[in-house]
Parts: sequence; C-alpha cells; structure tokens
Amino acid sequence: MELALAGKVGLITGASAGIGRATAQALAAEGVHLTLCARRAAPLQALAQELAQRYGVRTLAVAADLSQEAGIAALVDAHRAQFDTLDLLVNNAGSIRAGSLLAKPEAEWQEDFALKFWGYIRLTRAVWPLLMAGGARVVNVIGAAGRQPSAGYVAGGAANAGLMNLTQSLGDEGAPHGILVNAVNPGPVRTDRWQSLMQRQAAERGTSVAALEAEQLAHVPLRRAAEPSEIAATVVFLCSAAASYITGTTLQVDGGLARCI
Ligand SMILES: NC(=O)c1ccc[n+]([C@@H]2O[C@H](COP(=O)([O-])OP(=O)(O)OC[C@H]3O[C@@H](n4cnc5c(N)ncnc54)[C@H](OP(=O)(O)O)[C@@H]3O)[C@@H](O)[C@H]2O)c1
Repeated sequence: MELALAGKVGLITGASAGIGRATAQALAAEGVHLTLCARRAAPLQALAQELAQRYGVRTLAVAADLSQEAGIAALVDAHRAQFDTLDLLVNNAGSIRAGSLLAKPEAEWQEDFALKFWGYIRLTRAVWPLLMAGGARVVNVIGAAGRQPSAGYVAGGAANAGLMNLTQSLGDEGAPHGILVNAVNPGPVRTDRWQSLMQRQAAERGTSVAALEAEQLAHVPLRRAAEPSEIAATVVFLCSAAASYITGTTLQVDGGLARCI
C-alpha cells in the first residue's frame, strides 16, 4: 500500500511519551519532517535528535504548555519559522484526570479542558491557514469515553464527545480546502497516563490498581490494553494517501470495547 508520506511536514503534540511518541516514530519512519511539542524539553529534544539521525528527517522540538494561549502561539511561531508549511497536524496532548461530578473540583475541570478541549481547538485554528494550502490532514487523538461515558470519568467523556463532534464539523469545513479531519478513539493504552488514571480511580473507589485494571480490561473483547504503536499505526493510516476518501470520522481503536459495554 502506498502511504505517500515521505517529504510531508507534520506537527505532533504530546510527542515525548506514550501515543504521541509512538506516532512521531512511525511518521518519521515514513519520511515525515516533524515539529514535536510537549512541556519538558529534555525528552523531547532527545527524541527529535534520535529521529533525525535514524530516519534523515528534519525535526524541531518545541517545549510549550498547550493549555495556555501563549504556549500555542510559541509553538506555531517556532513551527512557521522552521518549516512555513504544514501537511499533517496530530492533536494528541491531553491528560484529563479521572473523577466523578462532585469529587472533581471545578478548577480541575477548567485545567483539564484547557488542554484537551481548548488546546485542540486553539491549535487547529492557529494552523488552519497553513493547512488550507491543500492536501492536508488533521488527526485528533480523542478517547473511547467520548462514545462510552462512565461515572468515574465525567470530564473525559464530555470533552471527548465535544471533540468527536468538532472532528465531524471540521470534516465538513475542511472539505472544500482539501483538508481531511479525522479522529482516533483509543481504549486503554499502556502509557504513563493509563497508569495514573488507574491509580486515581482506584483510590477514589477504595480498590487496588490491579483489581480495577482487571475489571476495566474485562470489558475489552481482546482482553488487553493496546500498545502505543497500535494507536500510532491508525494515525499514520489516517495521515496517508490510503485514507484519501475518509473525513469527519472517528475510528475506534479499542480492542472491541465500544460496541460491548
Ligand atoms: N493511554 C490511554 O489509555 C488513552 C486512552 C484514550 C485516550 N487517550 C488520549 O491519548 C492522548 C495521549 O495519551 P497518552 O496516554 O499517550 O499520554 P502520556 O503517555 O501521558 O503522554 C502525554 C504527552 O503529552 C505531553 N503533555 C502533557 N501535558 C501537556 C501540556 N500541558 N502541554 C503540552 N504537552 C503536554 C507530555 O509531555 P510533558 O509532560 O513533558 O508535557 C507527553 O508527551 C491523550 O489525549 C489521551 O487523553 C489515552
């Protein structure tokens, strides 16, 4: 299958760990030049160097907090200065914390939405003029809770449902400009974030992480969490020529979870 990604320019948020890191590795392996963003500079720079050396692509590491407008502006300025073009945007940086309606303080709702909801919207708005040059892709990494809400993860469900809706409407809005906008909804994925979600939910429910994880994975027909590379593979597909007739869609990459609960 011809992916036709070599020589494209991409921007990935949350690129230093987990799904974002695996996506950066997979896109660089296809010859995509990349701007990588996360808050901590050291792991990001190490990855940028590694990818440039290994795959011969140009990479730029930008340390920025994408829950802040200033962080978005700094990222976009740095990307424009280095590349001045953009073919692929992967919105991935997000870390909505678990919690039920009252257990989760309002300040935390605001902070979590500032990154996962507003961060995706602000960055997409900021680079949309670059994407309008034609043939561009946006992939939003969202999450299965957007379709399958649960009491212990109310904020994640609400933000994710909003982002799924946004993906669909931007698919419409982007179509006349050749911008295809899609999303991936991972179920459980073995990353630092999954670990901290389990710890927090287990503490709130007074159970152990092992017991909670077993309970959660029992809902997954494949009976395991995904590896980050399994989510990255779908992001790469949606960025590629192989997905040229797909827009406004959210693909579940969740081991069968969504249709089983
Ligand atoms: N893991 C799962 O089970 C799962 C399931 C469904 C959906 N998802 C979604 O998939 C996405 C990636 O999750 P993950 O599990 O791969 O996360 P992760 O392993 O915790 O990695 C998060 C990445 O985002 C960066 N980041 C965090 N806060 C940031 C901020 N304010 N500004 C810029 N970068 C920031 C982190 O680096 P720094 O800390 O250095 O900033 C890191 O590179 C998230 O949107 C998450 O909601 C994950």
